[in-house]
Amino acid sequence: MKLLIVGGGGREHAIIKKLKENPEVAVIYALPGNGGIAQDAVCVPEIGAKDIPAIVDFAKTHAIDFAVVAPDDPLALGCVDRLHEAGIPCFGPDAKAARIESSKVFSKNLMRTYGIPTAAYEVFHDPKAALEYLSTASFPIVIKADGLALGKGVLIPQNLDEAASAVKTIMEDKAFGDSGNEIVIEEFLTGPEVSVLAFTDGTAIRPMVSSMDHKRAGDGDTGLNTGGMGTVAPNPFYTAEIAQVCMDTIFLPTLAAMRAEGCPFKGCLYFGLMLTPDGPKVIEYNCRFGDPETQVVLPLLKTDLLTIMQAVEQETLADLDVEWSDGAAACVILASGGYPGHYEKGKVLTIPEALPANVTVYHAGDKLDGGVLVTSGGRVLGITAAAPTLKEALTDAYTAAEAVDFEGKYMRHDIGRRALAAMED
Ligand code: AMP
Ligand code: GLY
Repeated sequence: MKLLIVGGGGREHAIIKKLKENPEVAVIYALPGNGGIAQDAVCVPEIGAKDIPAIVDFAKTHAIDFAVVAPDDPLALGCVDRLHEAGIPCFGPDAKAARIESSKVFSKNLMRTYGIPTAAYEVFHDPKAALEYLSTASFPIVIKADGLALGKGVLIPQNLDEAASAVKTIMEDKAFGDSGNEIVIEEFLTGPEVSVLAFTDGTAIRPMVSSMDHKRAGDGDTGLNTGGMGTVAPNPFYTAEIAQVCMDTIFLPTLAAMRAEGCPFKGCLYFGLMLTPDGPKVIEYNCRFGDPETQVVLPLLKTDLLTIMQAVEQETLADLDVEWSDGAAACVILASGGYPGHYEKGKVLTIPEALPANVTVYHAGDKLDGGVLVTSGGRVLGITAAAPTLKEALTDAYTAAEAVDFEGKYMRHDIGRRALAAMED
């Protein structure tokens, strides 16, 4: 079979490596892919992930049997709709269903209408009305731009002054472009955060192993928000009992709500949850695999990924058992010094030939320069280890992360520390 994947980061590399385990897969094209992904797929750097006409054209001329659209932008832009119109089976939600991520106003209203637990909130179109509301609010409070903002459209002001400048940044200075035409102001929640990715065909759902992201740049959860500096799976805060509560009060009601709204969700639905003193609540939905959650979740998948994706497409997921290994996985992101602020590119990567069999290097931000791998992004590599216990997985991931080198290499040194502490309690 000939497969195509849209995207070019660590998440896409993890999906590609898993898809390749199926012996029927003859070739995978990655649009655009990246330097390291080129070891596992045929990369097409000329076609960017948002160039929908070129993607559809490529799929048609290369007689693609199955496509996977991984990033949020092409999903929101209707890449899956256009591929389907061209007769190409694919994995991912259509644009209408992708609104669950691309519009926070849509997702918050969905949760309110269908009684799905989430932070209390108000929507504002007008900065003046927002400020009036904030003048009597209690702090901290959470302000979110409506649209996609590379994970940066969430501000948590501690007082009215900070709140006023947050409203100005989003609605008047348009720091996140048109994403900030509307804002959601919501209650500040507390509790451990859990990411749960789930395969769904609109009706049946198969949650994946839970995971924990580490979003801040610095050790001890300090510094700026990033795309994610490391992950562990499973998440020890997410017990079997909590999983059942989430299934009954969040997962199944969300799928039913999307069907009732006329936009059944097919693909990977990501539930960003907070385990509050009042029970699990939804912080955000993503319409896609998380990055770097995917780099710890997919290595634990035992069932063939292509078979699952095809069952989602054909709406036969109810007939499929999806199995997971009992072990754990940890991923440490190696970033360019300075990320998420300014950083230099073009640093040569040195990756040892022989790494232990349980370690995988996922390439996120590199390219080939005259046959040599050099850095080209903020998050460069994800070093994942899978092992029987989280402790072993972390030790192996960090040992390998130390052995990989490039000028300016930066990583957090406390990935998984909170998870390990929770397991010892
Ligand atoms: P998001 O981009 O929606 O994932 O938000 C980024 C981060 O902001 C989340 O991972 C949370 O840590 C935090 N956050 C978002 N919404 C809330 C909330 N209502 N209460 C507390 N923290 C929040
Ligand atoms: N790691 C969070 C995300 O993919 O949005």
